[in-house]
Amino acid sequence: MASSLGVAVIGAGMAGKAHAAAYRMASALYEPVLPEIRLVSIGDVNPEFGRAAARRFGYQRHDSSWQAIAEADDIDVVSVVIANSLHREVVEGLLAAGKHVLCEKPLSDTLADARAMAQAAHEADTIARIGFSFRRAPGIAFIRQLVQSGELGEVLHFSGRYWADYASNPNGPISWRYKGGPGSGALADIGSHLAYVAEFVCGDVESVSGGRLSTAITKRPKPLGATLGHTQVAVSDEFEAVENDDYAAFSATFEHGVGALEVSRVAAGHPTSLIFEVFCSKGAARWDQRYPAQIELMLNEGPAATNGYRQIQLGPDHPYLAGGLPMDAPGVSFGQNELFLHQARAFLEEVAGVPESESLPRCASFDEGVHNMEFLAAVVESAQAGGASVDVRTEVFA
Ligand SMILES: NC(=O)c1ccc[n+]([C@@H]2O[C@H](COP(=O)([O-])OP(=O)(O)OC[C@H]3O[C@@H](n4cnc5c(N)ncnc54)[C@H](O)[C@@H]3O)[C@@H](O)[C@H]2O)c1
Repeated sequence: MASSLGVAVIGAGMAGKAHAAAYRMASALYEPVLPEIRLVSIGDVNPEFGRAAARRFGYQRHDSSWQAIAEADDIDVVSVVIANSLHREVVEGLLAAGKHVLCEKPLSDTLADARAMAQAAHEADTIARIGFSFRRAPGIAFIRQLVQSGELGEVLHFSGRYWADYASNPNGPISWRYKGGPGSGALADIGSHLAYVAEFVCGDVESVSGGRLSTAITKRPKPLGATLGHTQVAVSDEFEAVENDDYAAFSATFEHGVGALEVSRVAAGHPTSLIFEVFCSKGAARWDQRYPAQIELMLNEGPAATNGYRQIQLGPDHPYLAGGLPMDAPGVSFGQNELFLHQARAFLEEVAGVPESESLPRCASFDEGVHNMEFLAAVVESAQAGGASVDVRTEVFA
């Protein structure tokens, strides 16, 4: 094991800050098995954003080009947390320079680029992973265990939605999130998470049908300054076209059961609500991002008069929690930021050579990132064919 690992984050935006904070905290989760983690650089083309994030999260410096990070001898591990269309160039450059790379979801903005990235990952000597952060949610992992152990019985159907409201204000500025072809909007942005979670619980997707994409707000004002995440900034009176979907819906057939999935970025009142329910032969379970430290479970047992859903508070008896938070007592809550902590820990453990059997579950591979995009591409194809059934083709996923 190396005596230390130097870390950088490219992108100091909404999710970049979560990665920066996560590397800072990763060593302090669980037993201290990691080598020294050096917080080296935050890279952002906007030097103000890079400087502020480096200062806030205690990184030694900031860089304004990804090439500076690729060339730096004191950096081993890099998170790529920038617009999807920029992932390929930066990830390939970093892998060629011998860095270990954790790339944000979706892997890219086009399937062709995602496949090329997976190829580059196979050819690299270093580790390339994608950050499907919901893989780390204790409640989702627990429901998956209940399905896989047979406790819930056979999966009958899955109902999932990811509702967000970040685009519901028509005066919200245009940004990279609103540019790209069909399916590159809400479907890629938050549908990538929901599709991942559905397969995590129900097994591999086989086909989709009933695909539907729609754009509710067709133009947006240009920002007067730099934008970050979903924050509102002052806007001009010039508008640009929204090129992609605000809303997407489809149904799918999985290895276990069928399902209906819906995503929206114009769902007023839902800042970020990934919610799903899985119905099985012996009961049902549901998880709601707004209450991440609990699940609801219904088992078909006992007299009908008293049977029904019950709430289970998550704690040390559930996945990832024992020793994995500073205070991991029952009933002590946790949320979205912790997903990034555990993701960073898993990635650093893999890079450091901690055996899989002694580690958190590994982060997903680029092949899985390609598969996720193949799933979403089938939804787009279904929508373009008036809702026709489309098989999900898998070209790289092994
Ligand atoms: N896992 C999650 O829950 C989650 C949440 C949000 C975003 N994301 C993903 O993270 C990525 C970034 O999204 P975001 O919302 O943080 O974006 P953002 O718009 O908030 O931030 C992007 C940052 O990248 C910088 N940037 C632009 N071009 C750059 C370049 N060439 N080199 C370096 N920096 C550059 C911008 O100045 C900005 O600071 C996307 O892939 C998105 O899908 C994941």
